[in-house]
This record gives sequence, structure tokens and C-alpha cells, in this order.
Amino acid sequence: MADKKSVVTALKAMEGVGARARVFVSMPVVDGITPKSFLNARGVEKTRSGEPLTRMHGIFPPDSVGLSFFDHGGLYGDGCFEGILIKNGLVFLYKEHMERLWRSAGSLRIEIPYTIEELSWQVVRAIQATGIKKSETGYIRLIVTRGIGDLGLNPRKCVGSTVYAIVSTIKLYPREAYDMGIEVGVSRKIRRPGNSILDPRIKSDNYLNNVLGLFEGTNNMRLLESIMLTDRGFIAEATVDNIFSVTREYGRGGKSQKVRVVTPVGEYCLEGITRACIMEFAKRFGYDVEEVPDLMPLDLVGPGKECFMTGTGAGIMPIVKVCGNLVGDGKPGPATRKLLAEIERAMADPANGLDVNATRQDVVKHIRQKKARLVK
Ligand SMILES: Cc1ncc(COP(=O)(O)O)c(C=O)c1O
Repeated sequence: MADKKSVVTALKAMEGVGARARVFVSMPVVDGITPKSFLNARGVEKTRSGEPLTRMHGIFPPDSVGLSFFDHGGLYGDGCFEGILIKNGLVFLYKEHMERLWRSAGSLRIEIPYTIEELSWQVVRAIQATGIKKSETGYIRLIVTRGIGDLGLNPRKCVGSTVYAIVSTIKLYPREAYDMGIEVGVSRKIRRPGNSILDPRIKSDNYLNNVLGLFEGTNNMRLLESIMLTDRGFIAEATVDNIFSVTREYGRGGKSQKVRVVTPVGEYCLEGITRACIMEFAKRFGYDVEEVPDLMPLDLVGPGKECFMTGTGAGIMPIVKVCGNLVGDGKPGPATRKLLAEIERAMADPANGLDVNATRQDVVKHIRQKKARLVK
């Protein structure tokens, strides 16, 4: 049973998220199954998705509507999602996230009953309903599930996907964590499955493996993150972040010559959007950048090394200890700090995101324009 102190802490965190949240919810109408709280909610309306069943959608406070008990997202984890950051009044790399959502859903053979432009407009309406300010940091959790079906696994017996987006403010890691770096563990027993089990490039709703890896590698949550290994023992990624290692090759006289930035190959990990940004920045800085298949936990630690993790929530988080072993001198290194400053600059550049005050036309234009220069 959870102890009182941790329940109080968790409730406090939820209060902060819940009070400001708005959810966009979309699902088909099935008599006796689709929750009445949703069908009768204020603001719910019919969509024109062209599906055989009527589909309703709308934007609501989080405590006013519910999802179906028969949704295969809840019954089987049959779905995929995106986590997207709102910062400086911009939805950072919005188009890239939407494209990955479509790729994940495509791999799972889940049809999204919207065009990217239309779903994006609904998400933007939900952002605007939260009233998030430019000075605040927000987060969008956009989820697509197989939808309502019977109690069996058969996806063919589902009648159309459920789409929902939770938009709220978010509390990220404290500033000190970025200044000082964090320690991570390594989960040894629980491994990151390869693509013969669950393709890591699909951002699916199945995180149970990562949850177990987090418990194991952090010694029951005494640390904040854990590295996960492939079945062969190489580094795959962290439970919700990608991993980078930095080494320096010195020339004669000890003058720094080359900075080498490595990260595990895309087959082992989620092809993180932040990971792609970092590889691009590192190349621009003249660093050697390589995706490697054989990075080991011991490669991350020792003198002269730097290590960091990347993710939409974390941005770039310096790692200064792995399982008690120092990375470099135990402080975030110069390459990590330079990359961190660069991503912070990128997040403030309107070229890299969608304005939270966008109109429907702006949204369409944003989606149809070329990708941000940031991610190749
Ligand atoms: C398993 C995993 N790896 C990596 C990442 C980082 O990806 P991104 O930078 O696209 O957020 C995430 C983010 O949620 C993740 O869940």
C-alpha cells in the first residue's frame, strides 16, 4: 500500500496538472457502451469523419467526461501516443511529433479518423482552452487507441479508434538538475525488447517493460532514470529518454582535437525527436557524430567523458554518475552545456514550432510547410 506521504505528494502534483487541464476527446457512438458522460457533455459535437458509425468529439475539463471501459487502449495497451512540449508560446517541433504519431499508428494499423491538419486544429483549440501563458511550460499528451471493441484481443472487432489529447502545464526537472546533472542506474534483468518483440521505433502505449526497468535500475525509485540494455547487453536507451556519450580525442601536447558524440543506433531505441535535434546541433558544432550498436554502460563513465539523456520532457539532462561511477569529473561537461544552451535557443525560435494562438489557417499552413530546419 502507498504510504500517506507519497499519496500527499502525488495528489499535490495531480492537483497542479488537473486544475489547468483540458482534454480533447473523440470516439464513435456505440449504444450502451460509449459513456453518457461524454455523449451528453457540454460542447460535444458530431464529426464528419466518413466512418460507418457516428463519431463525436469535443474539448472538456478532465473530470467531466470518461473513456469507455471497452476501449482496447485500456484493455490491452493497444495504441500509440506523443508527448509534446509547449514552451515560449510555441508547440516545439509540432509537425515532427504529428508525423511520428501517424507513423506509429500506421505500424500498428490503427486508422486516425482525421487529417493531420484537422486533428492539429483540435489540439490547438484544446491548448487555447487551457489559457496557457507564454511564460508557462505546457505539455500535450496525444493518444490514439484501437478504440472500442468487445472483450477479446481481435482488433477487427473494434469499431474505430479513440483519439484524445490531454493539455496542461507541466513541472519539469528542477533547474539545479540541469546545472549539477543527475545520477542514473542501469536495469540488468529487464531489457529493452528488439523489433521482433516490439519495434522500439513505435511510440506505443506499452511501457510496462520500461516501468519494470525503472524500478529495477533506480533501486525502487531512489534515482530518477535508468538505462535499459538490449538483449545482448548493449545500451538501448533510458526508460523515457535517449542516451548520448561524449568523448574527446587529444592530439599531441594534450590539446583537445576532436569531440566524438555517440548514441545507440535507431534499431535499439525510439528515434527521439530531441535525439535528432542533438545530432544536428552536434554536427553543426563540428563534432563527430555516430550511431553505434555496441555502447556499454562502462563506456559512459571515467575521466574526460560526458554523458546526457534527451527527451521532450527532459530536453537535455546531464548525467554525472552511472550506478555510482563518475562521468568525467562529476559535473556537466562543456559539450553537454553547449548543446543544452543550443536547444534552449531553438525552443525560443518561432521557426521551430507552432504558435499556441494559431488560427485554423495558421495551423494548416504550418503543417503544409517544410519541416523545421532543425531536424533533417
Ligand atoms: C522510450 C523513449 N525513448 C526516448 C524518448 C525521447 O523521445 P523524444 O525526444 O521524441 O521525446 C522517449 C520520449 O518519450 C521515450 O519514451
